[in-house]
Amino acid sequence: MRELNDIKKDLGRCDMEILDLLMRRLSYAAEIMKCKKEQGLSIFQMEEDKRRNETLLAAIGDHAYYAELLRIFETIDEESKCVQSKSLFDHNIALIGFMGTGKSTVSKYLRDMLAMKEVDVDAMIVEDQKMPIRDIFDKYGEDYFRDCESNAILNLQSCRQTIISCGGGAVIREENVKNLKKSSCIVLLTASPETILERVKDDGGRPILNGNMNVEFIKELMAKRKDFYEKAADIIVETDHKNVQQICEELFLSLLQFEH
Ligand code: S3P
Repeated sequence: MRELNDIKKDLGRCDMEILDLLMRRLSYAAEIMKCKKEQGLSIFQMEEDKRRNETLLAAIGDHAYYAELLRIFETIDEESKCVQSKSLFDHNIALIGFMGTGKSTVSKYLRDMLAMKEVDVDAMIVEDQKMPIRDIFDKYGEDYFRDCESNAILNLQSCRQTIISCGGGAVIREENVKNLKKSSCIVLLTASPETILERVKDDGGRPILNGNMNVEFIKELMAKRKDFYEKAADIIVETDHKNVQQICEELFLSLLQFEH
């Protein structure tokens, strides 16, 4: 049996080595992102990530601490993504656009790929009011809902490195746009009325579309809101006939050009 103090000394040396390696690893992660940015390369290299993961799993093999090692590497991966997105920008990404343009889907994808925080303004209202959006409209009316929405957006001012997914009508009020602009790059997602109808037709949770689930109504409301959306947007991404990865790639390339 080795002396306890000797084991503790070895452990301490290990920590210093790990620390040194982690510092180097995080700075490589940031360097990789800078290279990709400069060379206009794709940020989301899923195949590459998959291969790296497989190499890692093979190296761990059937080690006694398999699960622990995997968890440690998951954390390293997550923190590397944070360093990478921080090396690119430190503002928020506010997603705006008509219902059904894919804000929630894009938000979740970006959150996972960039390890950013994510907030959904509608979800904040539901949590605060303790009832679904549908019931808030029924019970208190749209103006009350809009006040809740403005309040929620106002409360997000101190967020950093966060994806803010806004409800489809959020930018109709100028004060909301002003408050979002203070800390966010505003990204407008668009889609044709036909695509939108296809995406939302089976969802009864949107009171604005209750009894109006048709292309004509959507087209008309979109036309009324078009100027508000376009005036608020720093970046516009069309989403028709694209999958979430393509949308996020495009969004990200535009985001890299954006200086807040
Ligand atoms: C609304 C859009 C909804 C929600 C509310 C009102 C709108 O959000 O905020 O039902 O006026 O367009 P989504 O765009 O996320 O569906």
